[in-house]
Amino acid sequence: MNSPSQVIVRPARSLRGSVRLPGDKSISHRYAMLSGIAEGPSRLENYSTGADCASTLGCMRSLGVTWERKDNVIEVEGRGLSLKSPTSPLDCGNSGSTMRMLSGIVAAQKFASQMIGDESLSRRPMQRVIAPLTAMGAQIASQDGKPPLRIAGGVLKAIDYKMPVASAQVKSCLLFAGLFAEGETRIEEPLRTRDHGEVALRAFGAQLDSKSAGQGSAVRIRGGQRLRGIEASIPGDLSSAAFFLCAAALFPDSQLTVPNLLMNPTRARLLDILMQMGLRISVTQLEEIHGEMVGSLQVEGGKLKGATIAGGDSAALIDEIPVLAAIAPYTEQGIEVRDAKELRVKESDRIAAMAKNLRLMGAQVEERDDGLKIPGAQTLRGAELDSFGDHRIAMAFAVAALRAQGETLIRGSESAAISYPAFFSTLEGLTER
Ligand code: S3P
Repeated sequence: MNSPSQVIVRPARSLRGSVRLPGDKSISHRYAMLSGIAEGPSRLENYSTGADCASTLGCMRSLGVTWERKDNVIEVEGRGLSLKSPTSPLDCGNSGSTMRMLSGIVAAQKFASQMIGDESLSRRPMQRVIAPLTAMGAQIASQDGKPPLRIAGGVLKAIDYKMPVASAQVKSCLLFAGLFAEGETRIEEPLRTRDHGEVALRAFGAQLDSKSAGQGSAVRIRGGQRLRGIEASIPGDLSSAAFFLCAAALFPDSQLTVPNLLMNPTRARLLDILMQMGLRISVTQLEEIHGEMVGSLQVEGGKLKGATIAGGDSAALIDEIPVLAAIAPYTEQGIEVRDAKELRVKESDRIAAMAKNLRLMGAQVEERDDGLKIPGAQTLRGAELDSFGDHRIAMAFAVAALRAQGETLIRGSESAAISYPAFFSTLEGLTER
């Protein structure tokens, strides 16, 4: 992680220009893991520039996978399903995705691994992967369900598992483990979450079956399938684009173009919500690359109405809620977020962090156990804020600062590099004053 830093964000008049995003973080993690256990080489263009995806690549190297970075391309030499015993702990840094998804792969290896993380990751719940992997036959020691994890790899058997928490990381972990297991693994999720694990497995040549089940989905994968390497260009990260889309939404005069953006329907709920709220968005050049939808967005500002985010929407928008909350006071009717308790166990307690920073800017906020209610038509003032070491909080409040009165100072702004190192300079380049 970069050394601690702070930024000052000044109020703006509008957002204008074109922004091309680095590759999607969720897809980058999965491609890095799957290309390592595939046979033959893979070429991953526009790989995420975030520190989290570098943590995944670092772990893969420790597990004997060779790869090389050439500009924004990662060339990976797949090892097939057998990895090499690491000589030191697998350092997942700040990345819950790395620890949770990779645990499904290392649990099936012929060696023991230790997985560690930074202070924030060390506080995050891992029982959600430990319980099902243990049911598959893995032996995992933890600190009361939290990292570090000590995983004694071995033979896994398929399970039929109903996930108690809607989590795409857990779903991918179990699908990856299912690839190594004897028999057919069946996973059911209570609410629909992003399906990049399913889409990526298919891109690498695996066969799996998925169908809707209630408000969620049920996925089946047969063990013993071999993967083959791919050449792919990773679509721009929609959750990073969210900061610019919401910033554009703050000003009627905004005009923004976002080429090559991920449009996977399990991720694109933000676009519907922003359109319902009054942002004008049109999509062109829609195409499918390795099963992922990609398109170009043209965005124009307008009046901003309020919204309620609850139920399945809260799961679908889990990474975008911080920035939606940050623009909520400037909307006409405000934003209410319910059923989003998961936000309390992200890189920070995001509900508490959002409430604290909004109040420091003078906003009225009702903090609830599972969400927030933020009235609209408020005037905010610039303030001294903290990122709480959380990339999405740092970026969300840079957006809130654009329509505040006076300057805002954000401490711990270096945390943006977890998903998007160039965020602040890119935002500055798009801002009209
Ligand atoms: C992710 C899933 C979400 C999300 C995270 C990335 C993924 O986490 O918050 O940023 O790539 O699968 P959960 O699965 O824990 O909800």
